[in-house]
Amino acid sequence: MIIAIDGPAASGKGTLAKRIAAHFDMAWLDTGLLYRAVARDVLAAGSDLEDVQAAAAAAKSVNAETLDDPALRGPRAGDAASIVAKIPEVRAALLEYQRAFARQDKGAVLDGRDIGTVVCPEAHVKIFVTASDEARAKRRFLEHQSRGESVMYDDLLADIRRRDARDSGRAAAPMHAAADAVHLDTTTLDADQAFAVALQLIGVMR
Ligand code: DC
Repeated sequence: MIIAIDGPAASGKGTLAKRIAAHFDMAWLDTGLLYRAVARDVLAAGSDLEDVQAAAAAAKSVNAETLDDPALRGPRAGDAASIVAKIPEVRAALLEYQRAFARQDKGAVLDGRDIGTVVCPEAHVKIFVTASDEARAKRRFLEHQSRGESVMYDDLLADIRRRDARDSGRAAAPMHAAADAVHLDTTTLDADQAFAVALQLIGVMR
């Protein structure tokens, strides 16, 4: 079984995908980490994130064993990822890895922006997770606050809106819900409630 979880930044899709994978003992891939790793490698090579050749080369040689690198966490890495993710050559280079991951015998949960539409259009379950801009910015704000980092809520809100516009406005595999995806709005749900709703949806769709 393949479960595709798509949605914008801070919608709760990553937490949800991880819990679903653990619950069903399936493999889990946070595909955003691949784009984050490509952006990291482009910058480490001294290149510009908009440099198509450099980004494509980084995508072709990205090492999936480095996805647990703590440097990939955080909004700056996410923003950089969103820039290289606009480049069709980058997306093409990452496609086969994601598809091969999805084909494993134990089943796989993949979360990202284009899983239900491009990477695994054949997925048995497709969930498009959303939440209001304000709820997502507040989640990010509380995460930073719990780590003792001082950030401005308004800056986080602006970051989220800029990233959404870039991810859904690009020509290559823009973020949007697949026609056969179910929508899960987590604005007023905590992680446990979102998980409970997702389990119900999976029970109906699989
Ligand atoms: O899910 P995330 O915030 O880690 O993703 C970082 C960026 O990577 C996101 O803003 C756009 C890009 N991305 C993508 O284009 N397609 C995916 N399947 C996953 C992420």
